[in-house]
Amino acid sequence: MPQQVQGVVAPGKNEPVRVETIVIPDPGPGEAVVKVQACGVCHTDLHYKQGGINDEFPFLLGHEAAGIVESVGAGVTDVAPGDFVILNWRAVCGQCRACRRGRPWYCFNTHNAQQKMTLLDGTELSPALGIGAFAEKTLVHAGQCTKVDPSVAPEIAGLLGCGVMAGIGAAINTGNVGRGDSVAVIGCGGVGDAAVVGSRLAGAARIIAVDIDDRKLAKAKEMGATHTVNSRTADPVEAIRELTGGFGADVVIEAVGRPETYEQAFYARDLAGTVVLVGVPTPEMKLELPLLDVFGRGGALKSSWYGDCLPSRDFPMLIDLHQQGRIDLGAFVTETIGLGDVEKAFARMHEGDVLRSVVVF
Ligand code: APR
Ligand code: ZN
Ligand code: ZN
Repeated sequence: MPQQVQGVVAPGKNEPVRVETIVIPDPGPGEAVVKVQACGVCHTDLHYKQGGINDEFPFLLGHEAAGIVESVGAGVTDVAPGDFVILNWRAVCGQCRACRRGRPWYCFNTHNAQQKMTLLDGTELSPALGIGAFAEKTLVHAGQCTKVDPSVAPEIAGLLGCGVMAGIGAAINTGNVGRGDSVAVIGCGGVGDAAVVGSRLAGAARIIAVDIDDRKLAKAKEMGATHTVNSRTADPVEAIRELTGGFGADVVIEAVGRPETYEQAFYARDLAGTVVLVGVPTPEMKLELPLLDVFGRGGALKSSWYGDCLPSRDFPMLIDLHQQGRIDLGAFVTETIGLGDVEKAFARMHEGDVLRSVVVF
């Protein structure tokens, strides 16, 4: 029987979001219905609402979520009703060239539920990133569910569904930060701070946090940064070089997504170092660099997609490390809110002191 639950819908470009009754079909083959317990508010949800991703309104927002599997469709074997799971937006196909080459984080054929969730009048909803978890229940592809230790709080587990995983993964997967490395993180919002946490976990000796906001720098220090640079008052490239014996950092992680910070990241790395781009630019942005510098600087320039994570490998591991006290994912939860507070949480994103507002059910 299709079920009716409450969910946060973005009805049209820049219109305020509304809590609406939505209809969840029974799971079809390969699908699962998940009772959502917590879902973080991410910039991408705001971008959907603003029409910045596509114009397939109405959207069912929310995608950083954890919950309990309620029911599964035919052929689902990896998860079962009652499992505590983190949702992910990259359920890889296992068949494409990237998957077959052992690089499934580049899979271009990711799975989502085939059936549509709808409004009461039958209007089909577009779930944000194929998830739509600002709702009491949601319908996803079973491959979007990863089982983890159920003793972790859902508002903490759900963080791995997007931004925090992107940042930690930028350090440990894409950047391959190693013991003793120097790391610079440019932009210390939720993603950058997660990169700090990942770098510390990986054994980086020096972690230099760069931001334009002193409050963000103070927070980055709490998360494990050893040095901070305010790039409004100091040249960050110079400062990073000074802090790394004149060489530049072994790994520079860009977590802003702007031309000037891409350029800083490019020049702040050691000649043999790695630049990891995790900040997402907008389509019109361009970067101009002297070709001789591009040629002359070795190392690697890499972008990081969702932290190049493999949910089935990385989610249980990071939850275990959190449970053991070796990383503190709880530090990313600034506040827990109700389903009706998403619009307020969007407004608070710009205030500067919020890493994550998380809707709890
Ligand atoms: N130099 C340094 N830091 C900057 C600059 C700049 N020129 N401009 C902005 N920042 C800082 C902000 O002060 C803030 O602390 O970058 C941080 C961005 O953080 P958030 O806005 O909280 O964004 P976050 O969720 O961390 O995501 C960062 O990663 O995955 C991507 O799409 C995401 O592009 C976004 C980026
Ligand atoms: Zn694939
Ligand atoms: Zn997100």
